[in-house]
Amino acid sequence: MSETYANVLTIGLVFAALSAVGSVFVRSPYGRFATPRFGPSLPIRLGWLLMEAPFVAFYVFFAAGPRALEPVPLLFAAVWTLHYANRALIFPLAMRARPESRMALLVVVLGMGVVLVHGWLYATWLSGLASHLTLAWLRDPRFLLGLLLYLAGYALILQSEAILRGLRRDASGYVIPRGGAFRWVSCPHYLGELLAWTGLALATWCPGGLFVLAVSAANLVPRARATHRWYQEELAGYPPGRRALIPFLL
Ligand SMILES: NC(=O)c1ccc[n+]([C@@H]2O[C@H](COP(=O)([O-])OP(=O)(O)OC[C@H]3O[C@@H](n4cnc5c(N)ncnc54)[C@H](OP(=O)(O)O)[C@@H]3O)[C@@H](O)[C@H]2O)c1
Repeated sequence: MSETYANVLTIGLVFAALSAVGSVFVRSPYGRFATPRFGPSLPIRLGWLLMEAPFVAFYVFFAAGPRALEPVPLLFAAVWTLHYANRALIFPLAMRARPESRMALLVVVLGMGVVLVHGWLYATWLSGLASHLTLAWLRDPRFLLGLLLYLAGYALILQSEAILRGLRRDASGYVIPRGGAFRWVSCPHYLGELLAWTGLALATWCPGGLFVLAVSAANLVPRARATHRWYQEELAGYPPGRRALIPFLL
């Protein structure tokens, strides 16, 4: 790992730790938890599109690396594309947003920084620093288990987001989500996200993967718990056995 890489990663992990502390006191102000207390805000769809847009910088950083044309780094660039095709385009464009749903500008700006650093850490690793990413790596248990975890997480994200979208077909507010992994938890899409980033970090053996995993956990664990409490308080008949994020545990 180069000194620059280690420094960026360290700063990223400090940011993740601060976010974890902040999340104890503040619910990230977008969607159902949006509030004018955090200054100007944007319509939620525009917020998502802007926040995730820096994912394209990954390709610039990736192309600059000496291994950019090798098959295994290219395979992971394809995984990056798969992920962000959903997160940056399909999810925001297909969402059935409430007209009043907003995202604080602060969330958009911080999120853009996170996506940029995330892209730099992965791209620099994949096409530059990671000399182990040869064809032999495709037989390594870390790759196989990591890819499996990533794909399971990604499938869970897609399924759960589709169920949430479907709830707004006939209603404009909030409805109890049912089916898929909503049988067990209130936020299976967050669980999918955490599984996917764990899997990608393992499959690439990328230290920078710890950054996105830490930031995601700092955001999504408290948000899942807050969402779960909100459902229990606001939606009559909410299934009592359901947990927030991890079936039977949390
Ligand atoms: N890696 C990270 O750090 C990170 C951080 C945040 C999100 N994400 C990912 O981004 C995706 C979206 O996250 P999110 O926090 O926006 O999820 P969310 O709060 O569950 O909202 C997703 C969409 O579903 C709608 N929705 C939620 N619950 C609903 C219900 N009960 N009835 C009807 N509609 C409902 C929301 O509408 P409203 O906008 O009107 O609430 C929104 O359009 C997830 O897959 C998540 O894992 C990742």
